[in-house]
Amino acid sequence: MEPLVVLDSVNKHFGELHVLKDISTTVAKGEVVVVIGPSGSGKSTLCRAINRLETIDSGTITIDGKRLPEEGSGLAKLRADVGMVFQAFNLFAHKTVLDNVTLGPMKVRKLGKAEARKRAMELLDRVGVANQAQKMPAQLSGGQQQRVAIARALAMDPKVMLLDEPTSALDPEMINEVLDVMVGLAKDGMTMVVVTHEMGFARKAANRVLFMDQGMIVEEATPEQFFTAPKSDRAKDFLSKILTH
Ligand SMILES: Nc1ncnc2c1ncn2[C@@H]1O[C@H](COP(=O)(O)OP(=O)(O)O)[C@@H](O)[C@H]1O
Ligand SMILES: [Mg+2]
Repeated sequence: MEPLVVLDSVNKHFGELHVLKDISTTVAKGEVVVVIGPSGSGKSTLCRAINRLETIDSGTITIDGKRLPEEGSGLAKLRADVGMVFQAFNLFAHKTVLDNVTLGPMKVRKLGKAEARKRAMELLDRVGVANQAQKMPAQLSGGQQQRVAIARALAMDPKVMLLDEPTSALDPEMINEVLDVMVGLAKDGMTMVVVTHEMGFARKAANRVLFMDQGMIVEEATPEQFFTAPKSDRAKDFLSKILTH
């Protein structure tokens, strides 16, 4: 399969803290990779490095064959190829749902207003919130807001979607509506890197699980292998904790 995101010996420090230790992995086009691991293991930093929201100290990250530039318009372009959804639904609070989705495409992709709106409505429909288009984010439930955040990211026609614990701030009854949208995206062939502890999603949609601990990829396996027969003691220990809580 054609590689889309390639990390080669990526290292990152925050002061004394070595948060990413020689991370090398490849995400192929259309592949869904779930990143799992204890809090503080570097999962968010990894996502932020791929989106170049964080610089790296050494190593390389390429997206679709292009190395992430340091800054400038090349960076903005590459970043637009990477859709990001965070744990906290960080929609623009003072803009309608529709405007949240049209803003990026109009500004960065230079889409006309009518075209941006048409596409935004299609995407809002796809994530099941077309009827909320004229509302303000605060009028929506957490699950609806997170689905808008997904639509907003998709509106930029990203090559890859990074989702960092997209359901962990949601009330339980809203988790599935967001996971269903993510499963749909995966089925449609979207390349995705998803930080989540939702095993149901991983089993349904992931091609591969990366288990991180202390800044390292400790284990890489299919969901089936990872959840039923983890190899490392650290993965076994971690799984026993999330399975019993
Ligand atoms: N901006 C920052 N400055 C200093 N330390 C940070 C910063 N962001 C994250 N860290 C630290 O880096 C480590 C990895 O964090 P993070 O990538 O957020 O882990 P995870 O997402 O797996 O919980 C943690 O020890 C965290 O405290
Ligand atoms: Mg995190």
